[in-house]
Parts: sequence; C-alpha cells; structure tokens
Amino acid sequence: EYQKHIRNFSIVAHIDHGKSTIADRILELTDTVSERQMKNQLLDDMPLERQRGITIKLNSVEVKYCAKDGETYFFHLIDTPGHVDFSYEVSRSLVACEGALLIVDASQGVQAQTLANTYLAMDSDLEILPVINKIDLPSADPDMCKDEIEEMLGLDATEAVEVSGKTGKGIPDLLERIVQDIPAPSGDLKAPLKALIFDSKYDDYRGVVLSVRIEDGIVKPGDKIRIMNTGKDFEVTEVGVSSPYPVKKEMLVAGDVGYITANIKSVRETRVGDTITSSCNPTATPLPGYRQIPPMVYSGMYPVDNQKYDDLKEALQKLQLNDAALEFEPETSQALGFGFRCGFLGLLHMDVVQERLEQEFGMQLIMTAPSVDYHAIMNDGSVKLIDNPSDLPDAGEYQDVQEPFVKAEIMVPNDFVGAVMELCQKKHGEFQTMDYLDKFRVNVIYKMPLADIIYDFFDDLKSFTKGYASLDYEIIGYRSTNLVKIDMLLNHEPVDALSFIAHNDEAQTRARQMTSMLKKLIPRQNFEVDVQGAIGAKIISRATIKPYRKDVTWKIHTGDPDRRAKLLEKQRKGKKRMKAIGRVEVPQDAFMAVLKMD
Ligand code: GTP
Repeated sequence: EYQKHIRNFSIVAHIDHGKSTIADRILELTDTVSERQMKNQLLDDMPLERQRGITIKLNSVEVKYCAKDGETYFFHLIDTPGHVDFSYEVSRSLVACEGALLIVDASQGVQAQTLANTYLAMDSDLEILPVINKIDLPSADPDMCKDEIEEMLGLDATEAVEVSGKTGKGIPDLLERIVQDIPAPSGDLKAPLKALIFDSKYDDYRGVVLSVRIEDGIVKPGDKIRIMNTGKDFEVTEVGVSSPYPVKKEMLVAGDVGYITANIKSVRETRVGDTITSSCNPTATPLPGYRQIPPMVYSGMYPVDNQKYDDLKEALQKLQLNDAALEFEPETSQALGFGFRCGFLGLLHMDVVQERLEQEFGMQLIMTAPSVDYHAIMNDGSVKLIDNPSDLPDAGEYQDVQEPFVKAEIMVPNDFVGAVMELCQKKHGEFQTMDYLDKFRVNVIYKMPLADIIYDFFDDLKSFTKGYASLDYEIIGYRSTNLVKIDMLLNHEPVDALSFIAHNDEAQTRARQMTSMLKKLIPRQNFEVDVQGAIGAKIISRATIKPYRKDVTWKIHTGDPDRRAKLLEKQRKGKKRMKAIGRVEVPQDAFMAVLKMD
C-alpha cells in the first residue's frame, strides 16, 4: 500500500534552466523545511556549490505531499547537475528513479544538455515529464519551447507543465502531475534484499553513509547486509531519508530511496554502483551497476608540504567515495616529489576536486597543467599510454604520437554560425555537417582534438556567440597530428612538471609564450634564473629572470616589529603555494601557465 504512494524522480535540465530553483519551490510548498530553514538553492549544500551557484553533486530528498485526492505521497526527488562535466552524476541518479522532470527554460528552449539528458532518461526507460520554466520572463516563449521539445526530443509536449520557479506559478499543478504521470515503483517486498548504492559520502562520526535505492526486500537497523562486489558483511546501524536533513526511519522498503549506515569505516569497502543484499538470505544476481566513465583530463597533484603525502592519499580516498568519477594513482616527479596523477572528467571537475580537497580536507596543493592522454606508437609497434607529457619518450624511440579526437555538436542560432566556424577552425577543427534544427537554430558538427576542447573552448564559444551556443561532445578515437614534447628548463635543469605537448607547427610559438609566461609568473629570487624551452636537446626559446635588487629585502630586517611581522606573514602567505624546484621558488600559477596561452 505504501509503495503505491512513492514517486521517485530526478530533475534534469541544461545548466541554469532552473532545476535547483524548482526543487526549492517544491520543498517550500510541501512544508518540507520551515521558513526559517529555507535558503535559496537549499539542495546545493556543498559550500562550493553555494559559492559558484551551480549544482555539482546529485542530492536526494524526501518530500511528503498531500494530493488533491486526499492521500499523502512520498516524493523522492533527486536534483542533478547540469554542466556537461557532471553528466555521470545525472546517469547515476536516473537509475534510482521511475520518472524525470525535464526542465526547459522558456526563453532559451532546448539546449545541448537538454538533449543529452533526455537521451540518458530515455535509456533508463523513465517517464519524462516536460516542464517549461521561467514563464515570468518577458522573453519567454512557451509555444516555441513546446515545438522544440516535440521536434527535437520526440516527446509529446501538449501537456507540458508551465511554471515559474521564481514566482512559484504553476508549481501546485506540477506536484499533481508528478502524482498522476510518474509511476509508483514496483519491487517485491518479500524477496531477498537487493539495493543499489547510487552515491556515498564519508562522515567522521557515522562512517560511510550510503545513498541507496531499494529494489526488492526490506532493510532495517540490526540487519546483516553484504556488499556483493566485495563480499564484505556489515550490521546496519541506521536507515533513513534526507528531508533534506537526515531523518531516521524504522525501515526502508522496496521502492524507497534513502540512506543506510553500517559502521563502514574503510572507504575501500564500498563503491558506487555496487549492490547490497542480506547476508543470511542473499539475492542470486547483483544489479547491473554503472559503467565506469574514463577520465578526459589528467593532472598531477602534489602536497605543498611533502610531509602531507599520506594525508593527501587519505583525503583522495574519502573524496572518491563521494565522487566516483575521480581516479588517482601514485606518481613521482623529480621537481615536485611524491604525489598523484589524477584523472578528471573535465576542467571544471578538476577545479572542483582541487577546491574540495582544500576546503573539506584542509589540503594545500600544487596541481600541474592538465593534459589529455596521448598514445605513443613505439618503434616495436606497441602502444604506450601517456597521461603525463613528461613521460613521452625521446623522439627516436617512437614512430608516432596520437591524440584523442572528439565529435563536437554545437547548437547555435543562425546568426552565429560564422563565428562558431571561425573558432572551430582556429582550434584545429574539421567541419563535418550542419543541420537546421528549426528556422532559427543550427546544429554544427566538427571533429577536433580533445585537447583543444577541454582547455578554453567552452569559454571562447560563449564569448564568440554572446552565450547563445551550447556544446556536447564525445570521444571518437585517436589520430596522428604531428605532436612534439616541449620541455621547460629552469637554470638549465628540465622541470618535468612543466613539460607539455603541442602541435609541431605551433611548437616555437608555444615555447616562446610559455617562456615569457614563466618569466612573468616566477618571482625574482636572489640570484639570476634562466628560463628555456627545448625540444630534445635543442633550445627554442629563452628568457632571464633578474635577481632582486638589494633594497627589496632590507625591509624585512628593519622597521618596527609590527610592520615586520606583517611583512613576514605576507611573505609566508605568498609562499603557501610555492614549490622549491632546485633553488628556484615556483608558484602554483606557473604550473598552469600552459592553460593561459592562446
Ligand atoms: P545548475 O544546477 O547549475 O545546472 O543550475 P540549475 O538548473 O539548478 O539552475 P538554478 O536553479 O540555479 O537557476 C539558474 C538561474 O535562473 C538562477 O539565477 C535563478 O534565479 C534563475 N531562475 C530559475 N527559475 C527562474 C524562473 O522561473 N524565472 C526567472 N526569471 N529566473 C529563474
């Protein structure tokens, strides 16, 4: 009976189309949170999400809704991120649901991630309820939106719900439609326990907190459970739902979405995508789980203080629990010492990981410039994977280097097609096709190197098209493009962490740019520093960083004690993100300089 009153759904949309705002209105209207607790974008509770105003993590919440039929329904709503880097979070949350609210901004219509997320929802066989948001805007055009939803997504939009997350208009209708249109979960209460872990996080007091969708059976405190993929057994200490603060429950039953804690202390014992069953009465087959998504970019991550290597390792393991797409393995750099090579889904993901390690785990890090993974075809025909430019062997040892290519789909209004093509050409793109989506918009398709997409393509695209273009891409394979490795030398010593790979015809320019960037970014030392760029043994660019002039340092030794303390403090802070390479102090920015070249 209870099962019939459950509705599990995700909210999906293109970035900024208003998912989090609509989730807020739903929480408000169902009195899930008191007015005092209500703050904007309540579900974006990570400090970083609030700072940046974007959703990074999926977030689930139980909402009780008293419907017009007089019955109370339990909504399990999962808010998901919209940015292309985080679509793996979306696909994970969809597996826990029967339905999806597809939010489309009434003034912008269907965008690239609207399409991508709709396909994900269709793949999971979800009931999709189209919702047109921001109807309060003067530029809103709900009819155009409906046409696009029908033409481009193949969904019936005649019944689309029109709402404004800002004013709350239409939200009551939306709640009723959720009850009517989204099916209740099925699942056998009497069958052995079968639950999918779709998310997890580490809590210092409770150990690992698992977010689960119960497919079959029942789970309650005291039960013995088994994580099927590791075979490890645990005793359940607590079950409950997030509302959005944790609320304990007596049990979770088939169809429920909630959390389980079981004194799981080691982070290696569970993985997102694993199946939980009962130890005494296990189910025969685990749930399908998730496809592991390969990283798109790699970067080296080193503690500023070498003593903190173990702390960094532990922090990465804990963070990985909450971020299944993060990959890392130990790496040693001559210049930076012991650290990790980490794989990310994109630069935003990389940024987020770095900031979370700093904010949530108090780490201070030096990150090296991101790189895609290259394939070196060695002389004996074998393929060596190169996820760190400094690992590329010397020119004589390989026949060829190949780089990953993507198919990029760019949706853009007619007027900007020229601008988009100009940009893609500049980024080594090869034009494929161009389809008219409707009277005003075009889908432009290019093949281009992944490296050209991940660095700053997205920002450039936004500025070239006044923010009107949207982008989606997928890897299609590897190609030879005439690449060379450029090494950077400080005082004639190559610094492995500064090496990068570039197209041969641009090597000279890039080396020069990098040299002058380093000259700008590395502060003066009390001796002269030579900066050089080289291909193999051949120096192709050079610059000199002049030493301090004497009168800069005396400040520290004189003056009143207060002022001196301040100066020392300032110097200490400035040093926080410096790493000594030989005798040269190099700041974090220098390692990222390669990102700032055009
Ligand atoms: P991500 O989670 O980062 O993908 O964004 P989102 O889809 O959750 O969008 P969010 O709810 O953060 O809203 C994006 C912006 O649109 C915010 O500035 C909102 O205030 C604004 N917004 C959301 N709904 C409405 C609406 O109905 N009308 C108007 N005028 N603005 C809205």
